[in-house]
Amino acid sequence: MTRTILVTGGCGFIGANFVRLIHAERPDWRIVNVDKLTYAGNPHNLDGIEEGHNYRFVHDDICHGEAMWRLFHEEKVDTVAHFAAESHVDRSITGPTAFIETNIVGTFSLLEAARALWQGDAWQGNPPCFLHVSTDEVYGSLGDSGYFTETTAYSPRSPYSASKASSDHLARAYFHTYGLPVRITNCSNNYGPYQFPEKLIPLTFNNALHGKPLPVYGDGKNIRDWLHVEDHCRAILLVIEQGKNGGSYNIGGHNEKENIEVVTTICDILDEKRGLLPGGRPRHELITFVKDRLGHDRRYAIDATKIAGELGWRPEMTFEKGIAATIDWYLANSAWVNAVVDGSYQKYYAEMYGQALA
Ligand code: NAD
Ligand code: TYD
Repeated sequence: MTRTILVTGGCGFIGANFVRLIHAERPDWRIVNVDKLTYAGNPHNLDGIEEGHNYRFVHDDICHGEAMWRLFHEEKVDTVAHFAAESHVDRSITGPTAFIETNIVGTFSLLEAARALWQGDAWQGNPPCFLHVSTDEVYGSLGDSGYFTETTAYSPRSPYSASKASSDHLARAYFHTYGLPVRITNCSNNYGPYQFPEKLIPLTFNNALHGKPLPVYGDGKNIRDWLHVEDHCRAILLVIEQGKNGGSYNIGGHNEKENIEVVTTICDILDEKRGLLPGGRPRHELITFVKDRLGHDRRYAIDATKIAGELGWRPEMTFEKGIAATIDWYLANSAWVNAVVDGSYQKYYAEMYGQALA
């Protein structure tokens, strides 16, 4: 094995897409996936990837410092791709505690485990790399113009983005203080296969498919910069293989859309693929404007010039192509969607792994 990579949160949306990518394209890497299996972690996201010399699943909580220390030493981890997080802004508003624990304390315990292993005199492995996966939400909210660059001042405005900003600061501090080989990526909103249907795109897909109301917050004119998850995963792989220690890289797809446009697009595609609703109603009639999210950030938009110039990364999917492919994927994988929506996916791992971790 040429690398041993610890992927945290590999049973979540982006983590699972990343595990699938490197399992397919880096067969000489050993992948160790540590995941707590919260509501957002679904082992079915990795169906087809079997335990063996190049893949191991560890059911654990990244906040367990001692367990992480042991895992790093036992596996001689030389690379980390740190995805595990509480990731949904609405949940951070109603219950921020888990965000502080996982996103801040969990990141801290991984940084400590990496420092203990890599900075000891005994380390003789590959040059190590700790890739901390973060979000553009740490930069706050934009007005009608401008873009987030790597030097934009942090100004997080939700408990989620504040917890991610804290973890970015910790990761950067470990580079400056201890010389830990940390790299950070700040990416815009992702969409694609295996996304939990609490986020805008899979939620809209599922409700529109079944003729249920489509909640749009506020006036629907908030803007997000959408990126297909595979483009994100390829960017992360590139930063791991060719990025600079201490470097931050913004990742985004130049796909700024108002929420209302995203929701309407999904409705139109489903009307075309599945026919109109009973009574000949187009699905956009399901759109229901609801009370705005507290502290709702108005606009996010990424300037990805640095990663394009330094590492040659370019997104391959336009939004139009990516959203059509994503809807095709959700339509073709209705068993996955239904198990997530009705909660039965959790029964499967309760049987396999027993009680949820404290
Ligand atoms: P997700 O919510 O789909 O998955 C999170 C995963 O982490 C789940 O498998 C969950 O079980 C696991 N997890 C949660 N707490 C844990 C803990 N204490 N210990 C171990 N595992 C734990 O999240 P996602 O959308 O895949 O996001 C992954 C990362 O990418 C996050 O760090 C997020 O901040 C970042 N990010 C997400 C987006 C996006 O649009 N989804 C955009 C930019 C950055
Ligand atoms: P979301 O997918 O939760 O991602 P984030 O908050 O990290 O950007 O939301 C994307 C946008 O869609 C955001 O502006 C909030 C809005 N939204 C709705 O209008 N309705 C919904 O049901 C959801 C979940 C989100």
